[in-house]
Amino acid sequence: MNEIIDLDNIDLTKEPPLMEPDRQWYYIAKCRELVKAKSEELGRPLYASIITFGCQMNSRDSEKISGILKQIGYVETDTEDADFILYNTCTVRENANNRVYGRLGAQGRLKKDHPGMIIALCGCMMQEATAVEKIKTSYRFVDIIFGTHNIFKLAELLQTRFDSKRMVIDLWKNTDMIVENLPNDRQYSFKAGVNIMFGCNNFCSYCIVPYVRGRERSRNPQDILDEIKGLAKDGVVEIMLLGQNVNSYGKNLETPMSFAKLLSEIEKIDGIERVRFMTSHPKDLSDELIEVMKQSKKVCKHLHLPIQSGSSRLLQIMNRRYTKESYLELVEKIRAAVPDISLTTDIIVGFPGETEEDFLETMEVVRKVGYDSAFTFVYSKRTGTPAATMEGQVEETVAMERFDRLLKEVKANSVAAGKDEHTTQKILVEEVNEQNPGLLTGRLSNNLLVHFKGSESLIGTIVDVFLDESKGFYYMGSLI
Ligand code: 5AD
Ligand code: SF4
Repeated sequence: MNEIIDLDNIDLTKEPPLMEPDRQWYYIAKCRELVKAKSEELGRPLYASIITFGCQMNSRDSEKISGILKQIGYVETDTEDADFILYNTCTVRENANNRVYGRLGAQGRLKKDHPGMIIALCGCMMQEATAVEKIKTSYRFVDIIFGTHNIFKLAELLQTRFDSKRMVIDLWKNTDMIVENLPNDRQYSFKAGVNIMFGCNNFCSYCIVPYVRGRERSRNPQDILDEIKGLAKDGVVEIMLLGQNVNSYGKNLETPMSFAKLLSEIEKIDGIERVRFMTSHPKDLSDELIEVMKQSKKVCKHLHLPIQSGSSRLLQIMNRRYTKESYLELVEKIRAAVPDISLTTDIIVGFPGETEEDFLETMEVVRKVGYDSAFTFVYSKRTGTPAATMEGQVEETVAMERFDRLLKEVKANSVAAGKDEHTTQKILVEEVNEQNPGLLTGRLSNNLLVHFKGSESLIGTIVDVFLDESKGFYYMGSLI
């Protein structure tokens, strides 16, 4: 993984190769020539800015995009008047789409003063036909549109745009292709996200992800292990394994392999100190995985286990394939095996047909489980999903009122908050504290943050910190 390709050795007088990733390396080299010429003409580097919306999958995709752009010769910036602007979009909830339209309007006005600017859009929202239609008619200044399945083709699409001067649109409905060995530009030197699978087969009735990210595809275990070994050599100590539903990893591989088995293989890699993963679907969480988490020294004591609703009636309509009772049993089993585990979750309020009784069941689960934190969402109607046409859409005021009550309940019932006060814990030092530059910020195995005094040189290392004081969802500590 990530072998270095010498771009100067690629013969651009030849036709582009047909096989990937060679074809893309060819286009990277070709775009690089153009960018170099343009930059010489302007007497300055060409700048690129990536704006990422949404989840960790998107952040990971943006790292890949950034890797390609850097190889092409762009210098990354975060200003919106760059030469190349890319919006990596999300569509899981309606307001994510609205934010993109808002930003695009302003971007179009900026482009008028920067005629050479190239604006590209990619990500989940681009997999929706209605969104793309709207962009084609109302945002005609956009130069390149691609989706979630063909990120690897960015250089080829850019070259097409350089050649054609027209809006370039390349959207794939689905794919079984996984292209390895392309450039990559990691956001952090000491921790990294690693895709283990793409897509989702679950079709929860409210969720648009299976439609925009396609069917489940697992990466080859050897590719994953090689990538992680490479990261460890580069000094990465913490890995976050990424997938919409990591617990069903490997089911469709030629030689099937369970997620638990993959985790135990990853654990053996020297240099990797911490392994996290997300997201786990409760219906697929196996005893084998619980056993690996119990035995492991490296798998973090944190499990993100989305419940979505505490009402078994709604869970069935949501097509989640577990009940409140089976979820609570699972929680008990996990807590019995890994007593100090921190549990977090996702909850939707205002799903069509949600009654006060259904909602009270969600509140009951929150009290029983004591999540350390919860991502809480007001249901958002996504056209094309089964829930969008269901009867009993909940009034916004009712949903908002439930949302507020839910937040309070989550806060009031957190188990881990404060639990480790006055103990010494290992933390991975991540950054200088944003609010107070005199402090460093690090993360406990259970994902809670700790702020403490220390030298910047500690960033990226795992240190012992005494947790002096709990502040609810974070700690103040001192370096040992
Ligand atoms: N409305 C609100 N929240 C949603 N999620 C997914 N689809 C929707 C929707 N239509 C939430 C779920 C999921 C998280 C990533 O986003 O809780 O777990
Ligand atoms: Fe959406 Fe359900 Fe798949 Fe998660 S498991 S991405 S909520 S369909």
